[in-house]
Amino acid sequence: MNYRHIYHAGNFADVLKHAVLARLIVYMAQKDKAFRVLDTHAGIGLYDLSSEEAQKTGEWVDGIGRILDTDIPAKAKAILEPYLTAVRDLNPDGGLTLYPGSPKLTRMLMRPQDRLSAMELHPDDYETLHRLFDGDFQSRITELDGWLALGAHLPPKEKRGIVLVDPPFEIAGEYERLADGLHKAYRRFSGGTFCLWYPLKQGTPIAEFHAALQALEIPKMLCAELSVRSDRDTTGLSGSGLIIVNPPFTLKGELDILLPFLKDRLKQDRHASARAFWLRGEEVPERD
Ligand SMILES: C[S@@+](CC[C@H](N)C(=O)[O-])C[C@H]1O[C@@H](n2cnc3c(N)ncnc32)[C@H](O)[C@@H]1O
Repeated sequence: MNYRHIYHAGNFADVLKHAVLARLIVYMAQKDKAFRVLDTHAGIGLYDLSSEEAQKTGEWVDGIGRILDTDIPAKAKAILEPYLTAVRDLNPDGGLTLYPGSPKLTRMLMRPQDRLSAMELHPDDYETLHRLFDGDFQSRITELDGWLALGAHLPPKEKRGIVLVDPPFEIAGEYERLADGLHKAYRRFSGGTFCLWYPLKQGTPIAEFHAALQALEIPKMLCAELSVRSDRDTTGLSGSGLIIVNPPFTLKGELDILLPFLKDRLKQDRHASARAFWLRGEEVPERD
């Protein structure tokens, strides 16, 4: 396990992932009933962008650095508000030093009745995350293989919730593992909202991955992808995608506003692109 998220925190992929995660949580919180967020690959929760590691790559500069405290068109601004408010709240003196990872962002948006279960397998990152949530009775941090949690921790006792699966993609076969993991998890918690993250770069088997997901016959599955540059440059990510199962009925419309804005603001060359589409299901408004 070599991957450390501190080198990537706040980059363009985090912006899309965390903006969407915030939308999912805000939507869940519209009903009084408690929900749980299961974060299977949680990272350290809070990132110091002034640290040597974050400064070394500077990826956040072309991510959250291009968004926070800038002019944003009104509709996109409203969609980004919960996410950007959390980032601002972590930096009360202005500027941008601290950035929330998924468990911290989740925790900031939860209400007293809601719960977080977060898994992190890297021993040092687990220690850091565990310390961050020390004494917080609403959060349970576990040093556990997140893939196992998809079986062992579902369904949550609240029977409502969001499952974020955000693996590091440092070993071969992660796309298959993600599709298999969703298959297993959905059978246990078919009413849950799932959010899966995956990288886009040259040679990634996206068509096969989408086909594997479609074969699962899960009725409602939305896909959001953002590429900030051509994938010809083989160093690092050129884009990332999210699969959202059982999305709020509002999400597709929000993505149709958010993605063009993010593409325009985060693009690194003229090959930037973005799309939101249903892998399965239709745009039929529904209530949970
Ligand atoms: C992409 S990062 C997570 C970022 C985080 N979800 C966020 O958005 O802030 C992936 C994390 O998964 C951890 N990890 C890798 N394999 C794991 C596994 N099998 N189970 C749980 N965590 C794992 C890595 O140590 C790393 O911290």
